[in-house]
Amino acid sequence: MTGNTKDQTLRWYGRRRGHKLRPGRRALMNTLLPRLRLELPPAGGTLDLAGAFESSVSDVWLEVGFGAGEHLAAQARARPDIGFIGCEPFVNGVAGLLSRIESEGLTNVRVFDDDARKLLPRLPEASISRIYALFTDPWPKKRHHRRRFISDETVGELARALADGGELRLASDHGGYVEWMLERVARHPDFSWPAPGKRDWTDPPADWVGTRYEHKAKKQGLKPVYLRFLRRPRNS
Ligand SMILES: C[S@@+](CC[C@H](N)C(=O)[O-])C[C@H]1O[C@@H](n2cnc3c(N)ncnc32)[C@H](O)[C@@H]1O
Repeated sequence: MTGNTKDQTLRWYGRRRGHKLRPGRRALMNTLLPRLRLELPPAGGTLDLAGAFESSVSDVWLEVGFGAGEHLAAQARARPDIGFIGCEPFVNGVAGLLSRIESEGLTNVRVFDDDARKLLPRLPEASISRIYALFTDPWPKKRHHRRRFISDETVGELARALADGGELRLASDHGGYVEWMLERVARHPDFSWPAPGKRDWTDPPADWVGTRYEHKAKKQGLKPVYLRFLRRPRNS
C-alpha cells in the first residue's frame, strides 16, 4: 500500500488479502511493485502523468478494481501506445498483475495499490482518456450501499479526470447496482450515454476484453450489463 495516502475519512471495506502469496509473487511485491507504484504527491498536489511512464504515451487509461489484472494486462499488451494506471487494494490481485507484467514484458503499466477514491482527486484535470470500473463490488445490502465505488462524489471526480470525449466504462451483473450506477452517472451534467438500443448495454463494446468476474457471472447464468458513457467537451 502506498505510504503517503492515508486518508482517515475513507474507510476500505473490501478484502485486502486472500491466500498466502507464493514466493515468486511475494518477491515481485518487494522488487517490481516499488518500481511501478504511483506515489501520491504531498497533500494538495496532483500527479505528474507526463513523466509517469517509461516511454512517451499518447493517452493514459485507468482501470479501477482490476482484480487479478487479466483485463488490464490484455489491454496494455494490445495498446503499447497507451499508458495504463491500474488501481486495486487487494494484495493478491496486485501480485497477479505484477506476474503478468513481468512474464509479458509490459512497460506501459503503473500501479496504485490502494483505494481509487484516494487517487482520483490527485489526477490532473482532463488527464485520462478512458476509465474502466468493471464489476466493482455491488454491496447488495441497503445498509452497505454507501460502500459502492460509484457515488455522486466519485462520478464528479471521474468527470474531472476524464479528457473531453473520454470514455467511462462500467459493467455489473447486479441489477440493483446497474440501476444505481446509471442513475448517478446519468444525472451528472458532464456525461452523456450514447446507448440508443438495448444491445448497447446487453452486448460489450467491440474491443471488449473479458474479465474474470464477468466470466464467473456468465457461468452462473447471470447477464452482465455494459455501460459506456462519454465525457462531454468542457466548452460546449
Ligand atoms: C468483484 S471484483 C472484480 C474484479 C475485476 N474487475 C473483474 O471484473 O474480474 C471487484 C474489485 O474491485 C475492487 N474495488 C472495489 N472498490 C474499489 C475502489 N474504491 N478502488 C479500487 N478498487 C476497488 C475490489 O478490490 C475488487 O478487487
